[in-house]
Amino acid sequence: MGLAYFEINGGPRLRGTVRISGAKNAALPIMAASLMCEGEVILHDVPPVSDVTFLAELLSKLGVEVEWRPDGALRLVARDEMNCRAEYDIVRKMRASICVLGPLLAKRHRAQVSMPGGCAIGDRPVNLHLRAMQLLGADIELVNGDIVAKTKKLHGSEMFLGGPFGSTVLGTANAMMAATLAEGLTVIEMAACEPEVVDLANFLNKCGASITGQGTPRIVIEGVKELHGCEYRIIPDRIEAGTFMVASAITNGELTLENCRLDHLMAFVDRLTAIGVNVERSERGVTVSSARRLEPVDVTTQPFPGFPTDLQAQIMALLCLADGNSIITEKVFPDRFLHVAELSRMGAHLRKEGPTVIVQGVKRLIAAPVMASDLRASAALVLAGLAARGTTRVNRIYHIERGYVRIDEKLRAVGADIQRREGDES
Ligand code: EPU
Repeated sequence: MGLAYFEINGGPRLRGTVRISGAKNAALPIMAASLMCEGEVILHDVPPVSDVTFLAELLSKLGVEVEWRPDGALRLVARDEMNCRAEYDIVRKMRASICVLGPLLAKRHRAQVSMPGGCAIGDRPVNLHLRAMQLLGADIELVNGDIVAKTKKLHGSEMFLGGPFGSTVLGTANAMMAATLAEGLTVIEMAACEPEVVDLANFLNKCGASITGQGTPRIVIEGVKELHGCEYRIIPDRIEAGTFMVASAITNGELTLENCRLDHLMAFVDRLTAIGVNVERSERGVTVSSARRLEPVDVTTQPFPGFPTDLQAQIMALLCLADGNSIITEKVFPDRFLHVAELSRMGAHLRKEGPTVIVQGVKRLIAAPVMASDLRASAALVLAGLAARGTTRVNRIYHIERGYVRIDEKLRAVGADIQRREGDES
């Protein structure tokens, strides 16, 4: 693995326009759904990030022809149904590989997917995915660390997909995909309402599925005999948009975001506004500017439409510079706080108490070498570096490149002093 790092000289106020890429977390399950389609699937605005590359690799092992067209669209055609196995080697690199389980089972009636392990943000069980597949008529065994699922034919079912931390995004995606080709009616209660789940349902419907209720906690799927391909545009990445909103606020800058859906960011914008950041819809997009004084606020992450866990680390970076104490509570992944120790190395005053962090605002952050640990924690360190005094070095940026399209180039284009360099960690 290359040990590239970012070197950031903090201080410059960001100004200008940034185009937000397509959403990684919408693209991944939609790409996996191509396993179920007869004929060609053409996807626009799939972000060229490494998680997408990992999944493309897996899909091609599973017999899907994968091609990036010169116009940037991704073309997927399922050709060969022989191999139904997602091996540990690839699942280990990317947990989202679990989203091939539903499509393989529905279309090929068998799937062997390595059981995902834990990851930097916590345990991340898949019990709800497995329960959904069983309720749809699959037999499931665990063999040598692989989930082995088989069925003669899937049938519709009623299911409740809530767990101790609420709904599950990829669990809902897997259930919805499998139910699309099951015989009869499926009702998913406590379905995830995330925009990425809605995007998947809209894509499937365009391929001939019959899904209603997406975006609500009750999704109803009437099974169909087959799905055809289609041409589809992925929604904008709300987490990338939120990250650039913080980049603007933390540098007292003024950024306009193109391809940004504010209706996907209501809870986040509510907190930004309470902090004193201006968020305005304009003709060209969404303009974010900030007053010098940042108010402290309390933030609790929740499933959509609540405040997204994927923006918790980034808002913590901003609140480090607020004028007072903020409280951040993580209700989706209670252990997702690896950025706390790294932000503290940059002079932040943070105290973690269970799933809560008390952020005592400081006047300034101070540059330091820090280490990325997971995708969103890394983004928070880059944001802190943009505001810190001195040169921050963010190591192990392969984490950030899993989910952000050329973040260094996008930031540089609006005035940030950030360079990507190759090297060791010394
Ligand atoms: N959970 C269970 N059982 C399950 C599945 C989940 O208890 O079978 C729990 C999880 O442990 C967690 C909660 O349910 O406490 C929610 O997890 P969820 O299943 O919704 O997460 P996910 O679908 O695996 C997606 C995103 C994550 C994002 C979460 C929450 C993708 C590829 N990943 O993961 O994105 O944090 O939803 O919104 O869509 C990221 O992009 O950085 C990222 C981690």
